[in-house]
Amino acid sequence: MSVDVHHAPPLWRLLQACAQAVQAVRAGRSLTAQLESVSTDLRPGVQALSFQALRQLGRATALRTQLAKKAPPAAADALLCTALALGWDEAQAPYPVHTLVNQAVEAARRQRQTQGQAPFINACLRRFLRERDALVAATQEDVTARWNHPDWWVARLQADHPEHWMDLLMQSQHPAPMTVRVNPACTTVAAVQAALQAQGVVATPVGRSGLQLGKALPVAQLPGFEQGHVSVQDAAAQVAAPLLMQGLDLDRPWRVLDACAAPGGKTGHLLELCPQAQVLALDVDAQRCERIHQNLDRLQVRAQARAVVRAADAAQPTQWWDGQLFDAILLDAPCTASGIVRRHPDVRWLRRPEDSAQLARTQAQLLKVLWPLLKDGGRLLYCTCSIFKAEGDAVVDSFLQSNTDARFCPSPRHLIPGCLPVGLPVGDNPLGEYDGFYYALLEKQPTSA
Ligand SMILES: C[S@@+](CC[C@H](N)C(=O)[O-])C[C@H]1O[C@@H](n2cnc3c(N)ncnc32)[C@H](O)[C@@H]1O
Repeated sequence: MSVDVHHAPPLWRLLQACAQAVQAVRAGRSLTAQLESVSTDLRPGVQALSFQALRQLGRATALRTQLAKKAPPAAADALLCTALALGWDEAQAPYPVHTLVNQAVEAARRQRQTQGQAPFINACLRRFLRERDALVAATQEDVTARWNHPDWWVARLQADHPEHWMDLLMQSQHPAPMTVRVNPACTTVAAVQAALQAQGVVATPVGRSGLQLGKALPVAQLPGFEQGHVSVQDAAAQVAAPLLMQGLDLDRPWRVLDACAAPGGKTGHLLELCPQAQVLALDVDAQRCERIHQNLDRLQVRAQARAVVRAADAAQPTQWWDGQLFDAILLDAPCTASGIVRRHPDVRWLRRPEDSAQLARTQAQLLKVLWPLLKDGGRLLYCTCSIFKAEGDAVVDSFLQSNTDARFCPSPRHLIPGCLPVGLPVGDNPLGEYDGFYYALLEKQPTSA
């Protein structure tokens, strides 16, 4: 991490805020929400450190158990585990390990919640410095330490993806690249690539209209971001709109429902792709609907009144449906987000083993309720950013069994990072590095046939 030594906050302050983030995630709060409460001068440093700490929290917790069977109070334990997470692997440590230890003890001394535990933290970390190799070796058989994911998560990936589970877990530990989608109404992939090149950023075309950047930039520095020429969107998420609309005349005023739309990434893509489409974008969360408005305003697509955004429960059509059938429905259903752990390293610690089954019931219910709103011959794209089969194949296969008017069309099903995807729209570039996703395109057959 590069720091401006003259203005950089002291490391102990960053460690305090990072430990608070770890404590918050352990208590069930999302890292994104927690980072919003961090002062802006600290936020970039705290974000970088907390991403790294959460990626190594399994190992750190196992090391703390070696050092002290009984955990200290939550704030002290979070600080101790933060220091262990950042320092246990010298090759990846963001600072010299001695500095991390000294500053973690300083952080403990300087705040009320951990002051009383400072001698304990100091003793644990000094012992860790002396006995590191033996302590690390003693955690090697611990599944959560080895893979830095909960045991149940590892077991589920082993069952769901017996050939790829190790790759998946290893990939989850790496930061994801920044990928952007280029708006063909405003510019071209080649023009944005050249503009990035002029800024010293190498960008590789991915998918139909994406670019994977060699290094991340603040959005304000992306060429044409404010004018809606580019949007930040993972390559796997960029598959949705072209897959849903493939084979259709993109200049016709298709009636499209985006049932779970916030923050509007895929809604914007749909409107870029189909300039005449009439899109109804729903989201149950009114605050998140604001994000759809902001995104569509930036893309300058809402001004033409082709998109209507409504805060509503997609599972209750009587509250929002005007009775006219849709040509196409995008159901980007709420899920565990197990496919996007590279970008959200807190997700693995926030989820519980039972979440997947519970969300699968919600997903199946949404599918069941929305299917009758589709015209004969219309298509529905079901997707989630999960790699658990319970939220993908299991939902779709069960739906296909009980809905004989639904035909499965070529589509990727589980898009597994690092594996060659199948069923993508023809003619696209390879996806590059992408998040885990699930896509199933279903077409409605006329019932009288
Ligand atoms: C995976 S996110 C959607 C991401 C979005 N499609 C995009 O590309 O930017 C799932 C969304 O579903 C919304 N949601 C959950 N249950 C819903 C329901 N019953 N009706 C409508 N929206 C719902 C959540 O608030 C969340 O914003």
